[in-house]
Amino acid sequence: MTAQTLIVLSGLPGSGKSMLAEGVSRALSIPLFSIDPIEAAMWRGGLKKDQTGIAAYEVAIALADEQLRLGHSVIVDAVNPIEAPRAAWRSLAAKYRAGLKIIECICADETIHRARIEARRRNIPGMPEITWARVLERRAEYEPWTDARLTLDTSIETPDKLIAEAANYLR
Ligand SMILES: Nc1ncnc2c1ncn2[C@@H]1O[C@H](COP(=O)(O)OP(=O)(O)O)[C@@H](O)[C@H]1O
Ligand SMILES: [Mg+2]
Repeated sequence: MTAQTLIVLSGLPGSGKSMLAEGVSRALSIPLFSIDPIEAAMWRGGLKKDQTGIAAYEVAIALADEQLRLGHSVIVDAVNPIEAPRAAWRSLAAKYRAGLKIIECICADETIHRARIEARRRNIPGMPEITWARVLERRAEYEPWTDARLTLDTSIETPDKLIAEAANYLR
């Protein structure tokens, strides 16, 4: 990838965003900022859980801004369920005249999605694993995207294939 790009992941918890974001970060040597460890750090720092939903995005935007200002590409790993954060990424890319590439992860097979959520052990200090019931709540709030994007169904391909497909989309 030659042009400077802001790469934005989106998708429900357990849809495979972090797997993909980490693979692409390694494959293309692009820095990655992930919302969940940022939010967990805020909780460990004493902030209440109802104070950090928007704040964690603000931190990720600030970190991504710094990388773009320095001329780097950057990957952001977050659910991005509604218009407000999506608009923030559009305007950040525009600020630096960087390309914006959106990769939406879905796990179309609900049985697989649920099994992945229930088996996952991420070991993010201070952040418990999410329940399937909470994923269903988040699914009800998740708005469809209309932007041009790559949509990957992580229930039907191996991580290696998905990472290669994403890297190809970014080239
Ligand atoms: N294509 C895949 N094949 C097998 N397991 C996968 C695949 N994609 C993701 N996973 C696993 O599913 C779980 C959820 O993926 P994760 O990347 O943590 O989702 P998210 O970051 O969207 O919440 C993880 O344990 C991950 O290793
Ligand atoms: Mg994740």
